[in-house]
Amino acid sequence: MKMSIVEKILKLKKEKKAVILAHNYQRPEIQDIADYVGDSIELSRKAAEEKDAKIIVFSAVDFMAESAAILNPDKKVLLPTLGARCPMAQMLTVYEIKKWKAAYPLAPVVLYVNTLAEAKAYCDICCTSANAVEVVESLDSETVLFGPDSNLAEYVRRKTGKNIIPIPEKGFCPTHLLFQPEDAQILKRKNPDAVLMVHPECTAEMQEIADFIGSTSQMCRYARESNEKRFIVATEEGLIYRLRKENPEKEFIPAYEEAVCPNMKVNTLEKIYTALKEEENVVRVPEQIAKRAREALKRMFELK
Ligand code: 13P
Ligand code: SF4
Repeated sequence: MKMSIVEKILKLKKEKKAVILAHNYQRPEIQDIADYVGDSIELSRKAAEEKDAKIIVFSAVDFMAESAAILNPDKKVLLPTLGARCPMAQMLTVYEIKKWKAAYPLAPVVLYVNTLAEAKAYCDICCTSANAVEVVESLDSETVLFGPDSNLAEYVRRKTGKNIIPIPEKGFCPTHLLFQPEDAQILKRKNPDAVLMVHPECTAEMQEIADFIGSTSQMCRYARESNEKRFIVATEEGLIYRLRKENPEKEFIPAYEEAVCPNMKVNTLEKIYTALKEEENVVRVPEQIAKRAREALKRMFELK
């Protein structure tokens, strides 16, 4: 009898001692077969904890798979689609970091994990949207260089009161920029009982009208634990699938249905199958870069 693509992946996964980690924005059918679905900090942690697996298939974008490779130099980390690149991660070059460090030699550099490995090698500590405030608060400096997301930088500035200098000045996520406060206000007026959840990669104007701001998994936790029944969700549309699956009795309204990250969506079951079968698209980070980037990631994990 002919096996389905899901059966083929699961069989191969067992034979090769592989685990599949999928970000919250992955297609529903990928979330359904993954061993673990989460936000970027949870997935990095999972990758760091993977002791028994020989292969990690990281269904997400480049920087997340790179972090897994940095944390697991002894394992094969596969990215199902080589071209799955986060445009925001590409916005911060090493040249730019050096330029800002020269201008503010005493300021620590905090980099969002949405950066390339070579950028991470030049920072003091990494952060994700789930822990950026705690990371910056842990630093013994009032001035902090923070990149590449200027919206997350602004969120951190408001929460900590510190002098947060965004590097580059206007780094952004093209998908989260699609959320407009005017549209969200209309939805709020139509659904006065709904709670507006906003990702900190959205603009400051969106953050201002939010009832809750958090990472993708923090939104999942909030929706699960809250007594509220209806939620307007301002982040990439893939999260809606997980929210509905985990909370069938609650209602989730996308703040903008077209907010799709094309880079996250290039991964498919077929590509996962081929990558695993051929053991192709291995993510490699040169050890001299990985060593320094690993330190920055580990400092973040040590915080909590
Ligand atoms: P999370 O860590 O909240 O999942 O965010 C990752 C990301 O790329 C958001 O665009
Ligand atoms: Fe990058 Fe934005 Fe896509 Fe997240 S949603 S991977 S930040 S482009």
